[in-house]
Amino acid sequence: MNQTLTPLISPEEISITIKRLAKEINQDYQDCPLTILGILKGSFIFIADLVREIDAPVDNIEFIQLSSYRENTVSAGKASLLLDVDTRHIRGKHILVAEDIVDTGISTTTALELLIQKEPASVKLCSLLDKPSRRQREVKIDYLGFSIPDYFVLGYGLDVDQKYRQLPGIHYFKD
Ligand code: IMP
Ligand code: MG
Repeated sequence: MNQTLTPLISPEEISITIKRLAKEINQDYQDCPLTILGILKGSFIFIADLVREIDAPVDNIEFIQLSSYRENTVSAGKASLLLDVDTRHIRGKHILVAEDIVDTGISTTTALELLIQKEPASVKLCSLLDKPSRRQREVKIDYLGFSIPDYFVLGYGLDVDQKYRQLPGIHYFKD
């Protein structure tokens, strides 16, 4: 099978969208210091760009890592916690969770459930990408970059078998 890596979202479009997301976040958190909680690994580039556009007060940036077990590129239905965050960084804090993509919703739901146990003051979700057609769990995305069709996408932090994360734009494989 011969597949071509095809651009879906350009670095310029990503940059414009991140500025729009940051504007929404800045308005909502003007007087409310926030903690950004990134879900590794896929969100690392998104967060690096997003935080530099946020001028609302950011008290802390923390990370957790979840692993979703996949066969080929299909989620196998459970996410496991590889790296936890200390409860003292969450309890009583206003948390903004940053995701690369909400696909089935299993990872995000797992992350939000873990977080709630640590008693934050509030939790909102920001995701660069959304693939609503594959959703298995209902997820409310407060700040969304792009809604995309059911393509397996790569680049800008997203991987297939850990590869392609360094691409500046978002791509997919076309048959
Ligand atoms: P979910 O649990 O199915 O919503 O997705 C979990 C994780 O799988 C996401 O946070 C991504 O890291 C990864 N993922 C989902 N869809 C894609 C994709 O199209 N490309 C690369 N990674 C993806
Ligand atoms: Mg991934």
